[in-house]
Amino acid sequence: MVFISPHKFLENRDGTLYIDGVSVVELTDKFDTPLYVLSENRIRENFRNLRDALLKHYDKIRIYYSAKANTSLAVLRILRDEGAYLDAVSPGEVFLALKAGFQPEKILFTGTSVRNDELDFLVRTNVVINIDSISQLKRLIKIHVPEILSVRVNPEIGAGHHEHVITAGRNSKFGICEADVAKAYEIAKEAGVKRFGIHMHIGSGILSVEPFILAAEKLLEIAHHVRRSLGIKFEFMDFGGGLGVPYRLGEKPLNLEEYSERMLGLFRSKIREYDLGEPFFCVEPGRYIVCDAGILLTRVNTIKITPFKKFIGVDAGFNLLVRPVMYGAYHHIIVANRLNQPEEEVYDVAGPLCESGDILARDRPFPGVYEGDLLAILNAGAYGFVMSSQYNSRPRCAEILVKDGRYSLIRERESLEDLLRGQRLPEWLEH
Ligand code: LLP
Repeated sequence: MVFISPHKFLENRDGTLYIDGVSVVELTDKFDTPLYVLSENRIRENFRNLRDALLKHYDKIRIYYSAKANTSLAVLRILRDEGAYLDAVSPGEVFLALKAGFQPEKILFTGTSVRNDELDFLVRTNVVINIDSISQLKRLIKIHVPEILSVRVNPEIGAGHHEHVITAGRNSKFGICEADVAKAYEIAKEAGVKRFGIHMHIGSGILSVEPFILAAEKLLEIAHHVRRSLGIKFEFMDFGGGLGVPYRLGEKPLNLEEYSERMLGLFRSKIREYDLGEPFFCVEPGRYIVCDAGILLTRVNTIKITPFKKFIGVDAGFNLLVRPVMYGAYHHIIVANRLNQPEEEVYDVAGPLCESGDILARDRPFPGVYEGDLLAILNAGAYGFVMSSQYNSRPRCAEILVKDGRYSLIRERESLEDLLRGQRLPEWLEH
């Protein structure tokens, strides 16, 4: 099948893939492979689509970009310019967000299993803290009583594309269960906290609206209980991220209009019914904003035909994109320099790592593929580079940002020397 792009920023020009007006062949000639490439226009478009869909139904909205999906400085800067807030899960993410220019009050820290020195760092940087356990809360107020605090609730309704990414429910390590939520607010209030938020995040890669609604009903009920029993008013209510995107061609996207209409319809009616005032309605998507804006380009170095299988050997493996191996995730792959050629063979796409599991795709139809061809792995903008490693001592690859026919290197390729960074030999081994 001839490649027909699902998005207009990915184009087929005479059989070659262009991203935001830039030829991927030109990019890889210049920067080599493997190579992550991100479209600035697509990131902005995703952000604006979501913002506009939500704003149709309520004025006071906030989008916290979930930095864990992609923490490249350029991506953070684009989203800061768009007016995003930011969801951070580690001091490192807070550090990067501050470097990208986010104001501390726009950063919400949602960590789990947080150390005291990390709490100390958060207090010093002045970001808003979303507590994940009573233990964390008690340790925090010993260090400092913040003016504003949020509590992550486990609404006991979870969802997600794989069990590893379901973040609510009885077996989940995240959040505070209903039975203890009021207690957490009570402790915070008694310690002197003045302003409050409430938060949940049920999982990742969710393509239907239903689980969001069920969990939101629960969160609103819990907020009602806290309001009634402690008189607390919420400044914001954060309904989490998890908005899914289609990875397979033809897969139905999350209906953004339905999501916005139903979530905000419910929100507006319940804040009235429960006397919750007019809190900000917040979401914190990562994948939805950056996933389809990124591709991973990888070169074919080996064609191996065994009596049983045909393998395309490429120069990127699960060191650079772990999702297929970690979650059995599907990523659509195209031959970026043969987009007009019909698919005629079935191949596995194999990475260069010494593990049998280093397979990026199984039994995929492709045109005849040759050594030197260029593959593009789509939907690699979220949980791609951020989950990469130097496994097998392979330096990490470079990253490029493109926009309207322009491009810029936003992350240098690591060198062999980088494999030595920070390593030392003990003096008894130096000779
Ligand atoms: N908020 C919290 C508290 C989260 O834990 C997460 C994701 C998000 C927001 C953003 O979720 P998103 O909108 O991107 O679905 N590595 C996995 C995904 C792990 C997500 C972890 N938490 C993957 O590649 O599918």
